[in-house]
Amino acid sequence: MTAVVTGGAGALGSAIARRLARGGHAVALLDIADVTGTAADIRSRGGVALGIHCDVSDRDDIAHAFERLSTELGKPTVLVNNAAIFPSGSFLDVSVEEWDETVAVNQRGYFMCAQQAAQSMIDGGGGSMVNVASIVWHGFWENMSPYVTTKGAIVAMTRALARELGPHEIRVNAVAPGAFPTAAERSQHADLAAYERRTIESQSLKRRGTFDELAAAVAFLAGPDSSFITGQTLNVDGGWVMT
Ligand SMILES: NC(=O)c1ccc[n+]([C@@H]2O[C@H](COP(=O)([O-])OP(=O)(O)OC[C@H]3O[C@@H](n4cnc5c(N)ncnc54)[C@H](O)[C@@H]3O)[C@@H](O)[C@H]2O)c1
Repeated sequence: MTAVVTGGAGALGSAIARRLARGGHAVALLDIADVTGTAADIRSRGGVALGIHCDVSDRDDIAHAFERLSTELGKPTVLVNNAAIFPSGSFLDVSVEEWDETVAVNQRGYFMCAQQAAQSMIDGGGGSMVNVASIVWHGFWENMSPYVTTKGAIVAMTRALARELGPHEIRVNAVAPGAFPTAAERSQHADLAAYERRTIESQSLKRRGTFDELAAAVAFLAGPDSSFITGQTLNVDGGWVMT
């Protein structure tokens, strides 16, 4: 069982990769940041992991990464699309370049990785894709319009792919994380204490979520316990948004 996790060097991506490795997957971590440390740590705990430098906005990079991971670990049966960027600023100031760059990573990157993985999964008789979206697409977030737009697109893409790939026994689901205490979050909020207070007020559960709690939801959707679930977006947000 081989799983691909994009953005595997990041806070949530590395937790997802570790969780899938503990569940018996050989894990390929793709990132533009250095993933060798996380991969080595997974191996030191008895797991199988391969870190590959890959820019998910670049089709050739993706093709090379999948070729290498398929040779070294076996063809993937799980893809977790997770790599993303988070530009912030007022909508009126967003440049076309910034908009395009966000779409290139957060949306086009998910599409290209999914298309690449789908072919392997069809050849192997099926598989499972989990797209990491976000609850922000419900519309209560300000000053991140390109990001919010791509996250809504991922929910729609999840449904479109579930419909088309279902006949190949490929399931496509999404998780929509709420707010997790990552470095990216810390860098975006000047008054972190006030932000944390607002977050906990908005949630039904009155505590911060852990990376492992998000990783567990991804592992559920990636694995056989969700074998009859496809096209769904699971909010993992402590009961912030209820749909
Ligand atoms: N942290 C949260 O609270 C939160 C909330 C909602 C959704 N999410 C989603 O969770 C996912 C992971 O976010 P995170 O908080 O772990 O952020 P993070 O910044 O720690 O991780 C993102 C990773 O993506 C990588 N990346 C960026 N551009 C890339 C590219 N072009 N090619 C390959 N890799 C690239 C980064 O290097 C980084 O390692 C994202 O999809 C994000 O939208 C996070």
